[in-house]
Amino acid sequence: MRILVTAGPTREALDPVRFLSNRSSGKMGYALAEAAVAAGHAVTLVSGPVCLTTPEGLAAFVSVTSAEEMFATVAACLGEMDAAIFAAAVADYRPAAVAPEKIKKTGEALTLELVRTPDILGSAREPLGFRGLLVGFAAETENLRAHALDKLRRKGCDLLVANDVSQEGIGFDSDDNAATVFFADGRELAMEKAPKHALASRLLTLIETSVP
Ligand code: PMT
Repeated sequence: MRILVTAGPTREALDPVRFLSNRSSGKMGYALAEAAVAAGHAVTLVSGPVCLTTPEGLAAFVSVTSAEEMFATVAACLGEMDAAIFAAAVADYRPAAVAPEKIKKTGEALTLELVRTPDILGSAREPLGFRGLLVGFAAETENLRAHALDKLRRKGCDLLVANDVSQEGIGFDSDDNAATVFFADGRELAMEKAPKHALASRLLTLIETSVP
């Protein structure tokens, strides 16, 4: 299969030296890309800024910084893919304007105006017209099941991998993860805490067996 994986955080510039971002290390997405390469698939990895070694054997690797860049890259190649796995932690908002010079301290408080970034996963079915297997992630700190099922339906996913990022030792920037996989047909599968590479192999098997 041709498989697209998004991984890592995005950075949304505030001025020439500052940005808004999150704690994603890229480890989960890179583990998925490595598992897919090892299984013989043609893998395109679209990565935000991370401190990881680029996996060997990829069909393509694209390094991006912002949500806008990740969206443009995904939009350009999604149509060629059999499956797409969205493990990136994309910023939902960016500063409305990027200051051309470093912002100076002018008072005790500073108010930022933020605007929405493109919802890449949410655009995959419409308007991008993707008909392959769509795998989303959900990073939640409460009501994991309800939020995951909402994202699964709203974004047209076949599988939604939900992780509780409020728990110590899993989720963002750790070597391990635990997740519940929700399927569009109503099935649910709990995956116990395990190294991200082991979890990625299990997820990949699920993905392979879910492709019609
Ligand atoms: O990178 P690690 O340190 O290994 O951590 C792994 C992880 C916790 C980042 C990963 O397991 C994970 O949960 N990734 C999704 C993080 C996230 O942004 O979740 P979300 O619930 O905010 O987004 C839901 C889905 O929409 C995700 O598939 C996300 O990639 C996608 N999305 C979100 C916003 C946006 N503008 N575009 C998107 O495509």
